[in-house]
Amino acid sequence: MSFQAPKGTFDWTPPRSERVLAIREALAAPARRAGYGYIETPVFEDTALFARGVGESTDIVSKEMYTFTDKGGRSLTLRPEGTASVVRAVLQHGLHNGQLPVKLWYSGSQFRYERAQKGRYRHFWQVGAEALGSEDPALDAELIMLAADGYAGLGLTGVRLLINTLGCKECRPGYRAALQEFLRALDLDEPTRARIEINPLRVLDDKRPEVQAQLAGAPMVVDHLCGACKTYHEEVRSLLTASGVAFADDPRLVRGLDYYTRTTFEFVHDGLGSQSAVGGGGRYDGLSEMIGGPSLPSVGWALGVDRTLLAMEAEGLLADEAAGERVQVYGVPLGEEARRRMFLLVTELRRAGLVADMSFGGKGLKGAMKGADRSGARYALVLGERDLAARAVQLKDLTTAEQTEVPLTEVVDILKGKFS
Ligand code: HAM
Repeated sequence: MSFQAPKGTFDWTPPRSERVLAIREALAAPARRAGYGYIETPVFEDTALFARGVGESTDIVSKEMYTFTDKGGRSLTLRPEGTASVVRAVLQHGLHNGQLPVKLWYSGSQFRYERAQKGRYRHFWQVGAEALGSEDPALDAELIMLAADGYAGLGLTGVRLLINTLGCKECRPGYRAALQEFLRALDLDEPTRARIEINPLRVLDDKRPEVQAQLAGAPMVVDHLCGACKTYHEEVRSLLTASGVAFADDPRLVRGLDYYTRTTFEFVHDGLGSQSAVGGGGRYDGLSEMIGGPSLPSVGWALGVDRTLLAMEAEGLLADEAAGERVQVYGVPLGEEARRRMFLLVTELRRAGLVADMSFGGKGLKGAMKGADRSGARYALVLGERDLAARAVQLKDLTTAEQTEVPLTEVVDILKGKFS
């Protein structure tokens, strides 16, 4: 019997795996340039952290968590997202007692038991950034801009930004009540009716056409905002416009996590099919209190690395598959003694900063030269018994097939010169 990766998961193998590394780096680069520090949190946390932080009524908590009891009887959950963990870590280490906002970024695996399809996986990767402890529209605008810059840095041109506001604890209750009243009068099935009472905003996000058709006249949050939320949102929009970040207002944008207040946003790409969100985030002014901390108004985002790769593929940005470290020099030893000498030479080349590989498994000249060609190396170093006796090595340029004999003592410097 042979094993397969579990459903909804997959392996990244070369050369695409190199792309994934580069994407993670590029998405995080703008945040790092803006003073965000790196944070790493455990892959599993107390189940209650997510239940309280992300929200009991969300799909994530009610249906999608990988929850297990460990041998000590604790209920643990593989993280479905990073924000709750980051807030937990900030509180645990008292980072919020220093300068505010606390700016952090992370990169890691997330786990959600979702229906697997293209762009929707059970194990996926996010790069995220969070700014905690500050209520300032410039911070919302900064984060949105950093995400937009991350996509732009990868050459993506088809990412669209949608923004909305969800109000605050002052104005949200009034809106929620108005929405509930509207929804209760509709013809909906039982699970949806139950949702009206727990999380009415999520009903707006119901994708079924028969539900969408009835939602045409639903009250919109923008019509129920308090003065402070209106001013705040206008300032975020105006800062984005002033910085040249294009966006569209989407009054229907509802996020799948319960902690959001005020600014919410999503980055979408049209080349991905139904799973079009390549990233998303927003403000979460109440999350710290929800998990037992002090008031810590915060904002952040998470960008989906896997979907960003699909978006790049859709835009034809991955045509040149050979990314990453390309082998520059390839050693071809002929015979036992040459193999020992070549092993040292290749080590020396690597220590000198070159990307070097060699033929393994005692291959003959023909097989080893094939390996050199396949490696993509520019130069092969052929070392036979006669070369050893002459303390020399044959340096072959694989693009021109030109071959020259060079002294073993000089070959590292010669090659360093060729690649400098
Ligand atoms: P989210 O919208 O649940 O937000 O996830 C962010 C991004 O992760 C999505 O836009 C998508 O690109 C990617 N993603 C989510 N689920 C999957 C999946 N099953 N397969 C592949 N990619 C996926 C959050 O997670 C929030 N923590 C973001 C945030 C940070 N809000 C404030 N701070």
